Amino acid sequence: MGLFLGSAHYLLAGVVFALLVRALLGKKAIRRNGEPLRNPPDTLPLVGNGIQFLQPRWNLLSWFNKCQRQFGYETLALTVPTLPPGVLIHDPKNLDYVFKHEGLFTKGNFVKTRSWDLFGNGIINADGAFWKLQRKAGLSFLNTANLRVLTDVALPQYLSESVKELEAAKPDQVVDLQDVFHEITTKLMGKMAYNMEMHFSSPFSSSFDHASGCTAQRFQNPLYPLTEFFFGHKFRQSISTVKKFGLEIVSRAMRDAKSISSSPPPSTSPDDEKLDSISGSLIHSLLSAIPDSPSTVADAALTYLSAGRDTTGQALTWTFYLLLSHPEVLSKIRDEVRGVLAREQAPLDTTSSSLPFSPAVLTPLSAPYSLAVFYESLRLYPPIPFEIRQAQAATTLPDGTFLPKDSVLVWCLWAMQRSRLTWGEDADQFRPERWLDENGTIKHKGAAEFPVFYGGARSCLGRKMAEGIAVQVIPVVAWGWEFEGLGKEDKRGGVGIA
Ligand code: HEM
Ligand SMILES: *[C@@H]1O[C@H](CO)[C@@H](O)[C@H](O)[C@H]1NC(C)=O
Repeated sequence: MGLFLGSAHYLLAGVVFALLVRALLGKKAIRRNGEPLRNPPDTLPLVGNGIQFLQPRWNLLSWFNKCQRQFGYETLALTVPTLPPGVLIHDPKNLDYVFKHEGLFTKGNFVKTRSWDLFGNGIINADGAFWKLQRKAGLSFLNTANLRVLTDVALPQYLSESVKELEAAKPDQVVDLQDVFHEITTKLMGKMAYNMEMHFSSPFSSSFDHASGCTAQRFQNPLYPLTEFFFGHKFRQSISTVKKFGLEIVSRAMRDAKSISSSPPPSTSPDDEKLDSISGSLIHSLLSAIPDSPSTVADAALTYLSAGRDTTGQALTWTFYLLLSHPEVLSKIRDEVRGVLAREQAPLDTTSSSLPFSPAVLTPLSAPYSLAVFYESLRLYPPIPFEIRQAQAATTLPDGTFLPKDSVLVWCLWAMQRSRLTWGEDADQFRPERWLDENGTIKHKGAAEFPVFYGGARSCLGRKMAEGIAVQVIPVVAWGWEFEGLGKEDKRGGVGIA
């Protein structure tokens, strides 16, 4: 997805300058224990921190990290023209307070208006009763029995298809691992959630990808209505492709529901039967929860697709990006596989043309090192790198910062998860061992310190699913190949971070 804003945006800076001045003059400073908050580095008169947000995402994240390094856990004032007064928080105590007061800190109009076109009433935009019923539908989709079918049947099948494709690659062919991982997560979500065969290369998927990229940019560009008016043609086209596809998912599911009751489909094996019996369970739960609005069901379905597929695909991509420069970690993953196979007395089939072993033996419990590798990648490269909330009423954070109603609260996971105060002097290093105790068991971190899956009442519903996928995909791909980068990694060549 596009990480860079075109130069056209900078031209518009002048047009807006007057607006910014006006917006800023009306603002009152936020205080902590009576004292105004300090400003972050590089704060400019009048435009405040607005320029940082206009920068390419990579620069914005580096700037957040600089704030964190310089000020530790201190809460800083954030001034972005056109937005209400805000704070940038770093202290896990403050974040814990946010997670525990879900109703007080909501996405507010700021987030909703920006993600409305793509996600509409989908779960991440919804509040109140509407949120509850989508969360309930998601919980029943992600129940333990369904997750077992995912890890025992669906994932091993799709993984073996991907392994076959990788093996068919020519010796010097370049393979984009990001596409491989997105294909796996797309097939999984398509089949299990919607009972559809989906592929990452489909026009729908590329439109969805483009639309999510543009939506992510809206969070950095306060002038997006203006820039999209001139340059938003492709974005609008993508949205319309996505919406059409969403309605198709829904109408197929409605047809499915009718035909299942009359004639069950012929099954070929007990495994296929297991998978078929749960396929589409998300869309069917959503349909029965929201019987009277197909377009809302479509919004909900597409939001789940984004939440489940893109995050996991990106996290796996970053994992292998990190493994490129850490061969010692790669060989420990392979050691772990050998150990699991020996313990399970699972045979290693060296003649197999697809998988040399059954990935279903790899679970978060049997493969803690691989899980630690995944956590460590998520720490350094969180798929959702920063979050924005708005205070629905005046409140005081645990560190004494007083937030008036409507103030904006920002935290940057990218920066917080690199804090030396939280993670120690080697916070910048990729070291999966930090997640393991002396017995090789996973050490868990609370959501306030490791907020990668969010926290509190709205925490990620798919964490177990993502972990189940990771502990199979990482070892299987690490087992079969040696890796080499293309040498373009300095500016994250080809690897999305939105
Ligand atoms: C590594 C993978 C994943 C990461 C890092 C991740 C992270 C997150 C985060 C940060 C949120 C809060 C977003 C917000 O409200 O701003 C979230 C919410 C959510 N995630 Fe995940 N997620 C992952 C995988 C999944 C998977 C596989 C699913 C399964 C479908 C899923 C389903 C959801 C849902 C439904 C929500 C909304 C929860 C609510 O608002 O009540 N996620 N996730
Ligand atoms: C590691 O295992 C030993 C023996 O079972 C146990 O006594 C010890 O408490 C364990 N260490 C941790 C950190 O759990």
